Amino acid sequence: MATNETGKLKLMQGSRIIGWGAALPDKVITNQDFEGRLETNDAWITERTGIKERRYGGTTSSLAVEAAQKAIASAGLAPEDIGMLILSTTTPDKTVPATSSTVQAELGLSCGAFDLNAACAGFVYALVVGHNMIQSGLKNVLVIGSDTLSRITDQEDRATAVLFADGAGAVVLQASEDNAVLGWDLGVDGSLVPILYCEHGGYMRMEGREVFKRAVLAMVDSAHLALGRAGLTPDDIALVVPHQANIRIIEAANRRLGIPMERTSIVLDTTGNTSSGSIPLALAAAADKGALHPGDNVLFCGFGAGMTWASAVVRWDI
Ligand code: ACO
Repeated sequence: MATNETGKLKLMQGSRIIGWGAALPDKVITNQDFEGRLETNDAWITERTGIKERRYGGTTSSLAVEAAQKAIASAGLAPEDIGMLILSTTTPDKTVPATSSTVQAELGLSCGAFDLNAACAGFVYALVVGHNMIQSGLKNVLVIGSDTLSRITDQEDRATAVLFADGAGAVVLQASEDNAVLGWDLGVDGSLVPILYCEHGGYMRMEGREVFKRAVLAMVDSAHLALGRAGLTPDDIALVVPHQANIRIIEAANRRLGIPMERTSIVLDTTGNTSSGSIPLALAAAADKGALHPGDNVLFCGFGAGMTWASAVVRWDI
C-alpha cells in the first residue's frame, strides 16, 4: 500500500532534519581549463569569485537520485517511508513531465512528487514547503536540490562560464513534537527578472554587478527577518549555510550580519555555483566533517534569478 499520508491529518508541532546527502559529477573543470579558450585566468576567477574548480556531468535526475539515496540511508529510512518528494530545480531534464517523476521512480518511492523552481533560492523554498507539509500531517518529506547549470551556460561568455556548474544535495525532514524549523522568510522581486534569466533553449544572461549588489541586500534583509521570527540574533547562529555563488557576496553579507566567516560553510571553491544544489551541498559538507552538533542553530540563506531570496533558521537536531 502506498505510504503517501496526504489526508491523514495528524497535526505535529513541526519538523527536523534527520538525514542528508550530496552528489557531484566526476568531471572536474579547473580555472586553468578556461584559460586556453576564454580571455580569463585563474587569478581573476579566484580573486573575483573564490571558485577554483567546478564539476560538469550527469543529469538533474541522476544527481538528485544519488544525493537522495544517501539522504534516505543516513536518515535510517527506506523508500516506502517517504511521504512526499519535493525537487528544487531550475534545469529540469525535460519540459514535461516534472523531473521529480523520474526521481520518484528511480528511488522506488510510492509517494507524491513535484518540482519547485525558485532558482538558487529554491532549496530553501522547498525546505519550508516540506516543513509546512509536515505540519499538515505528513511524517517524512524528502527535499532535494539538483541542477545541471552547465547545460544552460554559454561556454563562450567568460562572465558566466566560470561561475555555473552541476551538483545536488538532499535532506529528509521528519515530523517532530519539538520543532526545529524555527523561522523563515521567502521572497521575490519580479521586477528584477531582466538582470538574470534564461530563455527556452538559450543560455543564462546576467548583469553580474547588479545581481551582486541585490544579492547582498536580499541575503541580509531576509536573514534578519528569519532570525527575528525565530527569536534569535546573529550571535545565536553556529553555522551559516549560504548560497554558494561568489565568496565576496558571502563575505559582504556576513560582514553586515556580524557573523564571522569561520562560522560559514563554504564549498564554492570546488563546486562553483550549482544553484539548487549549492545550499544542501554546503550543508552536507559541514555535516560530513562533524562541524554540526545537536542544538546548533543553522542559518540557510539563498538568492537567485527572479529575483528570489529565502532564509530559514533550523536547529540541528541529530
Ligand atoms: N575573466 C576576466 N575578466 C572578466 C571575467 C572573467 N571570467 N568576467 C568578467 N570580466 C571582466 C568584465 O568584462 C569587466 O571588464 P571591463 O571592465 O573591461 O568591462 C571586468 O571584468 C569587471 O566586470 P564586473 O562585472 O564589474 O566584475 P565583478 O567584480 O562584478 O565580477 C562577477 C563579476 C564575478 C560576475 C560578479 O559580478 C558576480 O559574482 N555577480 C553575481 C553573480 C551571481 O551570483 N549570479 C548567480 C545568481 S544565483 C542564480 O539564480 C543562478
